[in-house]
Amino acid sequence: MDSSDVAPDLTEILVTQEQIAARTLELAAQIDTDYAGREPLLVGVLNGAVMVMSDLSRALHMHVRMDWMAVSSYGAGTKSSGVVRILKDLTSDVHERDVLIVEDIIDTGLTLSYLIENLKGRGAASVEVAAMFRKPDALAVPLEVKYVGFDIPNQFVVGYGLDFDGRYRNLRDVGILAPHVYS
Ligand code: PRP
Repeated sequence: MDSSDVAPDLTEILVTQEQIAARTLELAAQIDTDYAGREPLLVGVLNGAVMVMSDLSRALHMHVRMDWMAVSSYGAGTKSSGVVRILKDLTSDVHERDVLIVEDIIDTGLTLSYLIENLKGRGAASVEVAAMFRKPDALAVPLEVKYVGFDIPNQFVVGYGLDFDGRYRNLRDVGILAPHVYS
């Protein structure tokens, strides 16, 4: 869907589909260069990362493998605890693989912080992160992220994989959700 399909639900279009497409090409070029001669394992974090994984992987000019994890924090109230539950694990062995975690958004950074340590603990040769969006003002832990599409304000954003109550993931742009939708 396009922003025009849900115009009353958005206060602002933050990042357009054209901007996302252009940034994806830039990130892919950087990844192609950095991983030249290697074949990274792209690990998508369900559900939000589906769009990023789909577009970023196809923008690459090298071979990659793809796998998926689904994780959940232990309830919304304890998200800040950083405790993450694995709902679906990888099917691949990451031992000595160059892992590139693909995420839609970094909010507090707790999910990624857990995932990075988890994958390193399995013996990955390297673990890096590609995230299309990051909210610098929401970061609760120091996190090194090699590939970031856009730094965005700490607002309720939807689209391009980001949902509210399961909706808006299929919105092509990323917009700020109007308070009347969630209040
Ligand atoms: C989102 C996003 C990240 C995580 C980031 O997933 O996809 O995985 O939150 O938040 P953090 O930096 O505060 O840990 P969510 O739990 O909303 O699930 P979803 O991908 O299915 O939407």
